[in-house]
Order: sequence, then structure tokens, then C-alpha cells
Amino acid sequence: AEQGWPELHRIPHPPRRLPLLGDVLGADRRKPVQDSIRFARELGPIFRRRAFGKEFVFVWGAPLAADLADESRFAKHVGLGVANLRPVAGDGLFTAYNHEPNWQLAHDVLAPGFSREAMEGYHGMMLAVAGRLTGHWDREAAAGRSVDVPGDMTKLTLETIARTGFGHDFGSFERDRPHPFVTAMVGTLSYAQRLNSLPAPLAPLLLRTAARRNAADMAYLNRTVDDLVAERRRSGRGDGDLLDRMLQTAHPETGEKLSAQNVRKQVITFLVAGHETTSGALSFALYYLARHPEIAARARAEVARVWGDTERPGYDQVAKLRYVRRVLDESLRLWPTAPAFAREARQDTVLAGEHPMLRGAWALVLTPMLHRDPEVWGEDAERFDPDRFEAAAVRSRPPHTFKPFGTGARACIGRQFALHEATLVLGLLLRRYDLRADPAYRLTVTERLTVIPEGLRLGLEPRPAPT
Ligand code: HEM
Repeated sequence: AEQGWPELHRIPHPPRRLPLLGDVLGADRRKPVQDSIRFARELGPIFRRRAFGKEFVFVWGAPLAADLADESRFAKHVGLGVANLRPVAGDGLFTAYNHEPNWQLAHDVLAPGFSREAMEGYHGMMLAVAGRLTGHWDREAAAGRSVDVPGDMTKLTLETIARTGFGHDFGSFERDRPHPFVTAMVGTLSYAQRLNSLPAPLAPLLLRTAARRNAADMAYLNRTVDDLVAERRRSGRGDGDLLDRMLQTAHPETGEKLSAQNVRKQVITFLVAGHETTSGALSFALYYLARHPEIAARARAEVARVWGDTERPGYDQVAKLRYVRRVLDESLRLWPTAPAFAREARQDTVLAGEHPMLRGAWALVLTPMLHRDPEVWGEDAERFDPDRFEAAAVRSRPPHTFKPFGTGARACIGRQFALHEATLVLGLLLRRYDLRADPAYRLTVTERLTVIPEGLRLGLEPRPAPT
């Protein structure tokens, strides 16, 4: 029973395998997800890839993925990229093992930081940060320059999580280059991804220089976070934001608080998880809006109808942008920016009545392919069409077919935060600019555990202010 799959031989794999390296022929080591998408199309709804003597099972067919969402038989698996982040994020919420007590403790202490009331509290600050972005874009547009979409979306989302969650200002919009925190973060994410494509015992040798660089990146992240926490301990004032919760709130039942060591891991976790994926989601949405002027026009008309000429749309006015939200959902369908999550069997079981799994056996859910399964999304699944998220269409689909935020107890805690922020920003940008795509640009997707469009620039045509 190889690695907990007694009938592994029934799961298809690529035809050409090398004795030592496995299925690395024709593989692009820097783009493991897009590579797996290619294999998925050839091999079907469940397949395996072999690397360095280990088998990895991938699942994307809708019935199989829905079965993996059964929380009574399956749970999150901390493996591959997520496990490689343990040196950075330790037992922080994202990288914690299910059995680690700090997961439940931190989850219970931090969940109220994502309640509706908490989100309403962040709204004003989100608007202020968006104002920094439009200020910058106004200047670029006036100078006739195009804008660096993923670069600027990263500035926006980093400032948003840093200010709302931690009362910290990275000054991203005052810099030409990314903040060193972002450079260090991108370094550790890329390193964690590279570790997957090397045999574990050789990785430290092959990556000597990269490992040194990674140690420096981790030290920088730790230092930044320690300074931020020390500053808060000195000033003592955060108006009950996430950092206040981490430092002060006791568990409602046990009275326990997060340790100083764990707070460090949580701050890094939230600063990274809280901005990188949202930045990608906004970037893909802007790519599709620029490519589909008729969809942008429809979204813009909705913003005009719901917001009128108000300068500062309120919290409730964001939730009412139903079509803009569909644009975002459709972007996350085609490019879920956290493109896979892993599930493990909690007991011996049979996946979808077909594939026996022993306790602890696990599989990766390949979300971009789940979101393109023609059985669910139709033969035109590759087409960008926000109407797929009209209420009636959503009701007609089976459950667990749209999973950009993962599933179950370990699903994304920041989902509402990300959706509110991104919908607000798209509304503001649509109202303020016409987006001009460069006809020569071909979508290129960079992977660093997350996916993000590479080299995407847009021209901006300022629109008359609402009167
Ligand atoms: C977990 C996606 C935004 C914080 C996850 C998971 C996914 C995901 C797929 C589950 C991973 C797994 O099963 O291994 C996304 C996407 C986002 C987004 C696509 C934006 C579009 C955010 C934001 C925050 C955040 C804004 C914080 C403010 C977290 C945390 C976890 C998590 C802490 C771990 C939760 C736990 O295990 O208890 N996210 N996320 N995410 N996300 Fe997000």
C-alpha cells in the first residue's frame, strides 16, 4: 500500500517516467501548478505524479473534490508548500497541524476580528488606503504612463492589512520599489515552492546560496514583526485591532492567551496571507475587466446606480455591488490565487466509493481545474463570464464546486475581509478610470505558491467625476 493508497495502480500517471526523477520530463519546475493543469487535462479527474520516489495524488473532478470536503472523514493536510512554510510561520493559523492546541486557541481568539462589526470598523481605513492608490494612479494617468497592476495591487493590499490589522504603515505608496518586507516575503514563498521540486535530502546542498538568502529573508520578516509588536507594547493603543487581540485577548473558556512566540508567527501569517492572494485576485480581475469592455461597462453602470455621486461609499454600499462581486468570483474561478489545498483521510476510507485510502493518506485538490470541470461549468468553462455567479446559476450547481477559499474548519478566515476590500477597490477604480489593455500582452502567470499575473500593465483613461 504505497503511501496509504492501496490501489494506487488504478490512478493514471504520465506515460514517461524516469527511474530516479519520476515525472519531471517536460516539467517546468518554476510553474508546478500550470504543469499539473496540463497533466490534469491529459490524465483526467484523479491522477498522480511521481517525484523523487514519492507519489503525489491530484484530484480535480467535482464528485471527488466534493467527497474530500466531507469533514467527518477528511481534514486539512499540512504538506508540500504549506509544510515548507513552517520555518517561517510555525504553528501560526495557516501552517498549524490540526492537532496543535495553538490552532484552536488562535482561531477562537481571532475569529471575532473577522465578524461583520469588525469589518465595518475596517471599512474607513480600507477607503483611505484606496485613496492612496487612486492618488498614485491619477498622477500616472496625468503623465500618460501605464500602471504596474500587480505591483500596485500589492502595495494596496499590504497597506490595508498592515493598517487595519496592526496599526502599521509600511509607506508603500511613497516608495518606487517594493517594501523590503514584500521582497523578503516573495523570497520565502518562492523558496518554499522550490523545495518541492528537489529531493528532500539534497535540497540543502543544491540550494546552498538560496538557503542562505532564505535565512536572511526570514530574519528580516522576524525583525519587522518584532519591531511592530514592541512598538504596540510601548504605545498600548490599537483600538482592539487584530494585534490587540493577539496580545491581550484571553480565550473565552480557557482564559489562555497566545504566547509571545506564537504572536510573532501569527503576525507574519496575517501580514502575508492577508495581502498576497488578494493582490493577485484584484490583478486578475483588472486583467479580465480590461479585456472585456462590455463587462466593465456593466459593472460600472452598477457602481453608478448603487453609489450615485457619494464620495465615500459606505460599508453596506459595497455589499450591494452584486455584479462587481461576480466579476471577482469569476476571476477567482479561473485563477484561484491560492491554487491548491491538501486533504488527508482521518480514518481508513474509500474516496468517492472508488479509491481506498488509509488513515493519513492525502491528496491535493487542484482548484483551477476543479473550477473548469466541464461537467459542472460546461464546455465553455474557459470563457470569462460573471453571469455564472447569478443566484439561480449558483443554486443549480452541486455543492463544493467553487472553492477558492478552501474548505471546512481550516478554510480561509479572511474571506470576507478579502472580498470586501477587493469589491470596494474594483468599484472605486471602475468609477474613476477606463482601463486600456495592451493588445500585445499575453497572460503570463508567475507562481510562488500563489499565482499572480506577470508584467501586467494597463493604460488609464480618467473618467469625469460623478456629479
Ligand atoms: C486559509 C485563500 C485572503 C488569512 C486560506 C486557504 C485558502 C485561502 C485556499 C486554505 C488553505 C488550506 O486549506 O491549506 C485565500 C484567498 C484570498 C485570501 C484566495 C484572497 C482572495 C486572506 C486574507 C486573510 C487570510 C485577507 C487575512 C486577513 C488566512 C488564514 C488562513 C487562510 C489565517 C488559515 C486559516 C486556518 O487554517 O485556520 N486562505 N485567502 N486570507 N487564510 Fe486566506
